[in-house]
Amino acid sequence: MKVRSSVFASFILIFEVVGIALFLRGFFPVPVKSSFSSKSSLSDQPKEPLAGSAPNSSRLPQPLFKRVVIMLVDALREDFVLGPSGRMYMPYTRHLVEKGSSQSFVAKARPPTVTMPRIKALTTGSIPGFIDVVMNLNSPALLEDNLIWQAKTAGKRIVFYGDDTWVRLFPKHFMEYDGTTSFFVSDYTEVDNNVTRHLDSTLKRDDWDMLILHYLGLDHIGHISGPHSSLIQPKLLEMDDILKKIHSALVSKEAEGSLPYLLVLCGDHGMSETGSHGGSSEPEVNTPLVLISPAFKRKGKQQRGPVVEQVDLTPTLALGLGLPISQNSVGRVIPGVLEETSLRDQLRFLHLNGHQLSCLLKDSVADYEKDPGFEQFRVAEKAHGNWMKLYLEGNTSEVLTNMGKKVLKQYLEALAAMSSALSKQLGKYDMYSMVAGMNWWIIAVLWQSTAHFLLKPSHSDG
Ligand SMILES: *[C@@H]1O[C@H](CO)[C@@H](O)[C@H](O)[C@H]1NC(C)=O
Ligand SMILES: *[C@@H]1O[C@H](CO)[C@@H](O)[C@H](O)[C@H]1NC(C)=O
Ligand SMILES: *[C@@H]1O[C@H](CO)[C@@H](O)[C@H](O)[C@H]1NC(C)=O
Repeated sequence: MKVRSSVFASFILIFEVVGIALFLRGFFPVPVKSSFSSKSSLSDQPKEPLAGSAPNSSRLPQPLFKRVVIMLVDALREDFVLGPSGRMYMPYTRHLVEKGSSQSFVAKARPPTVTMPRIKALTTGSIPGFIDVVMNLNSPALLEDNLIWQAKTAGKRIVFYGDDTWVRLFPKHFMEYDGTTSFFVSDYTEVDNNVTRHLDSTLKRDDWDMLILHYLGLDHIGHISGPHSSLIQPKLLEMDDILKKIHSALVSKEAEGSLPYLLVLCGDHGMSETGSHGGSSEPEVNTPLVLISPAFKRKGKQQRGPVVEQVDLTPTLALGLGLPISQNSVGRVIPGVLEETSLRDQLRFLHLNGHQLSCLLKDSVADYEKDPGFEQFRVAEKAHGNWMKLYLEGNTSEVLTNMGKKVLKQYLEALAAMSSALSKQLGKYDMYSMVAGMNWWIIAVLWQSTAHFLLKPSHSDG
């Protein structure tokens, strides 16, 4: 009986291990991404479509921005800026949102709404899996194609101050950096002062192209005392003052004849009603995205902007800076950002984004040719070629403008369809494995307790 029970016990143990392994397997997204080590490059950008002859122009539009400042406020919830209390919390920012040359959006972050996966999403444009939560505390360097790598490779000089997660993800990318640690959640003052202390000197200098700031204080306040704490307003007013300081410095640097600046205010995730984050509730996933640049039309009066995905910022910044879009990005360029460029450039920007998405789709989906977005992209590309032919012939009729607008619409629809197909594919956890693993485990536990019950008398015999 003894021998039999130990064999039985090992059998159950194996059964349990298999169950747990299967369950964990389900946490890894289906491996569909293109290879981790390869990266997009300017030389494999597609040619500009042209009907009739083979397209021979590799012309790329001029970048939209010269200098970019990204101010990321950890746990910045959408309503803190764009909601009714935004006027009280961030008056200067709110003024720019409503009356300045700006574009603002509600950017949806995907769960897990935790900092490291969100930084990865913002820089790669792809959808990290739940496994990233486990690795949140020990984030190694990011090897996947990403915006920071692309910018560095193109010779952009990047300066970073803030959450040291960035420094671990991008160990060799910054010309200058100072990482703050989020280890002491009770500290919400020094962690931000350590970022701000560099601003005056950095904003005076001209030797950088990209400045990234990641402020942690607001998130710490959320964890300590929630979104309705009396500490929230002073912290947001502090952030508002910093944005004002950066904006004024950028405005004073603007020079006639050179490309304009772009100032981005965003959050990595929001904050629940209890001040926590990680899940998929509305206040956790809704973050504000405010883009400020003289490249945009001054708004009459704009209310809470349209909803975009957080990952849409990635291709938007890439195209705006004249960089290739990271190859695993599922985002689509925010069309409003292109509105002041020529129709030819708008079409070309959408073409580049569409080409990148269609390549990712080819790598990720077996029957990609049947994907409606993929088909639509082919149709739009063809129409784009016809438009280009007439355009190069010097046709300036209204017919041509209307035709171009139609192509633009086709591209936008194709991008939306391909982006959503890819998000579904990449965000698809292996539900089957998870359910199967769970079942195995439950059966094993049931067997174990039954066996325990049945075998007990024989134990007391021995
Ligand atoms: C390439 O395109 C230009 C227009 O951009 C055209 O003038 C030229 O003839 C083309 N060359 C060839 C070899 O097709
Ligand atoms: C802020 O900077 C000081 C001095 O460089 C350092 O000792 C301290 O640990 C930093 N604080 C945080 C929260 O990173
Ligand atoms: C421009 O192209 C349209 C559409 O093909 C055509 O109807 C029109 O006559 C052309 N105009 C000129 C000036 O070439």
